[in-house]
Amino acid sequence: MKRFVSENVHDQVIVDVVFEAAQGAVKATNEFGDDAVVNGAFGTYFKDEGGLLTFETVYRTFDKVEDVHKARYAAGIEGSPEFRAAVKDWLFTSEGIEIDCDIVATPGGTGALSSTVKNALSPGDTVIHPDIGWGPYKTIARQHNVEIANYKLFDGDKFNIASFKDTCRDVMERQGKVLAFVNDPCQNPTGYTMKDTEWEELLAFVNELSEEGPVILLQDVAYIDFTLQGPAYRKHFERFKDLAENVLVVIAFSVSKTLTAYGMRVGAQVLIGKNEEERTRFKNAASNTARGVWSTVNNGGMRVFSEIASDETTKKAYLAEKEEFVQLLKERAEIFKLEAEEVDLPIYPYEEGFFITLRIDDAAVKNALHLALKKKNIFFVNVYGGLRIAICSIPKRKLRGLAKRIKETLAEVEKDRE
Ligand SMILES: Cc1ncc(COP(=O)(O)O)c(C=O)c1O
Repeated sequence: MKRFVSENVHDQVIVDVVFEAAQGAVKATNEFGDDAVVNGAFGTYFKDEGGLLTFETVYRTFDKVEDVHKARYAAGIEGSPEFRAAVKDWLFTSEGIEIDCDIVATPGGTGALSSTVKNALSPGDTVIHPDIGWGPYKTIARQHNVEIANYKLFDGDKFNIASFKDTCRDVMERQGKVLAFVNDPCQNPTGYTMKDTEWEELLAFVNELSEEGPVILLQDVAYIDFTLQGPAYRKHFERFKDLAENVLVVIAFSVSKTLTAYGMRVGAQVLIGKNEEERTRFKNAASNTARGVWSTVNNGGMRVFSEIASDETTKKAYLAEKEEFVQLLKERAEIFKLEAEEVDLPIYPYEEGFFITLRIDDAAVKNALHLALKKKNIFFVNVYGGLRIAICSIPKRKLRGLAKRIKETLAEVEKDRE
């Protein structure tokens, strides 16, 4: 039977575990009051005193953007020249890194991820993801009718380079090309940041693998501006100067996270690779996707980012404002990590960033714990291999004692299952 929707689209009700958990938390807060609820579901930054974090520098800069500029289409399908220059400066030049790249503005990091999958792979192909990763990666793959092969993210407490290599080799053998996602730094949902040696081994492997076919390595840097390393993390990008001819790196950059301006829908796809002809082809494909899917990116949003990146005083003010919240995340993480250790509650190796994930291998136990916590008005996101705790949205006062409450609930769940 023919339907209104095509046979090729994903037409099931969207079950987004983050939105679902967040709605539960909001409902409980309305019913029982804020003090009675731990909302660790939202992936957006909330202040300790409550309320979504908004930076003064961002919104006062936005206020100064003229109405006509906000109203206008962007000056180019690939994004305004000022925005593209600002992204390049933000990621590379401001830290003294000279790197040849093409930049296409996208609606958030999501736009960059989706456009990359669409333009690197054909329907029926396979994209490579970490087994523990951001949920919408799967939704994006489905949008493009692409299969998923997962590499194991961890080997104990380390990046599982062996699994990454095996998965890539296997896909290369079947497909003749590879598109692999790496989310670093501050991985969502674990808060892991790869070590220098891990990156070096990964890139040496990618270069070697590219002798068999094209390799597109997507580095999702959504949380780059929340690493404790600060701008020093950017030195990592120097490594992309040594890519083999048949490797293309795509950096997915999210202004949503950098400016905590999620609704502004600004991001970028940054293409790096020695083969200029092939890179230009990819950029052209990405520009066609822009025109045919979203047209142009929020013009006022691009201006705000450009102003912050290019005006020294504004950038300094933004960095100072943000630093307070990088440190606050660290304090929140320390409270939870220390208490988790005290009560022997296992978590994945957390270094930094918005999320900590409880390590629960048994899916039945994990699901039962998720439910039992919900009944106590504690809301987390159920992810592969555990429960994600968004410390970006839990104030310190609510983090104190939380590990113990979780541990007690886990004991109750395990008792019930006996
Ligand atoms: C790992 C990761 N990548 C990309 C994104 C994309 O965010 P946006 O499209 O708002 O820039 C998110 C947002 O939560 C994320 O957590």
